[in-house]
Amino acid sequence: MKKRKNIITVAIDSPAAAGAGTQAKLISKNYNLFYLDTGKIYRYIGMLKLNNNNKFTYNLVKHKISKLKLSNLKNRKLLSNEVAKSASEIAKNKRIRNIVHKFQQRCAYSPPKNYKGSVLDGRDIITVQVKDAMFKFYITASLKVRTKRRFAEYKKLNIKITYKEVLKSLRNRDKSDKKRKYGPLKKTKDSILINTTKLSKKACFLKIKAIMDKKLNN
Ligand code: C5P
Repeated sequence: MKKRKNIITVAIDSPAAAGAGTQAKLISKNYNLFYLDTGKIYRYIGMLKLNNNNKFTYNLVKHKISKLKLSNLKNRKLLSNEVAKSASEIAKNKRIRNIVHKFQQRCAYSPPKNYKGSVLDGRDIITVQVKDAMFKFYITASLKVRTKRRFAEYKKLNIKITYKEVLKSLRNRDKSDKKRKYGPLKKTKDSILINTTKLSKKACFLKIKAIMDKKLNN
């Protein structure tokens, strides 16, 4: 893969439902950057596991990821809690993470020419995938606020789930994503912390934009 030169790279990590996806989309729109929600790739593989339980092999994953189109990641079924749980399980696996790595590298460093760069969000973006990003953010929010937000999203999507189930699922995923051996979620010293607990989407974006504009206009 040939890396494009002089592009803007933005790397974001966050626990589930902290608002990283919303901010990444706003960043991509404002700066004309290619956006990849890397969690969707793990969800895609998590769903593959749920649908092919005993036929789920590394070769199957490799094959599917080699043919993966961004439109595949728009499937609404990927948004369910069962798929999220399955994604968090398969994401512990080093071989699976290596398969996903290549796809993410292409999106981060060689985005389509009509974009000025890329923005990726996930769990290991600032630590592994785009370590040398021009901008590195760690977005977080309290577990209570994240649960409220995710519960409201599920309601809007007509997904039947209780508040307690959402809370439990987020708590378990936080633990698993932070404690796992490969690509654990963690804040790095060179990343900027954005706590969205008490911030509106707009206030949060303005904070990020001020940081980015300062560097880009220098
Ligand atoms: O971001 P989202 O909640 O959609 O991610 C689903 C799961 O995928 C996470 O809980 C995490 O285990 C995994 N993931 C990961 N590395 C990434 C993105 C997501 O391990 N870069």
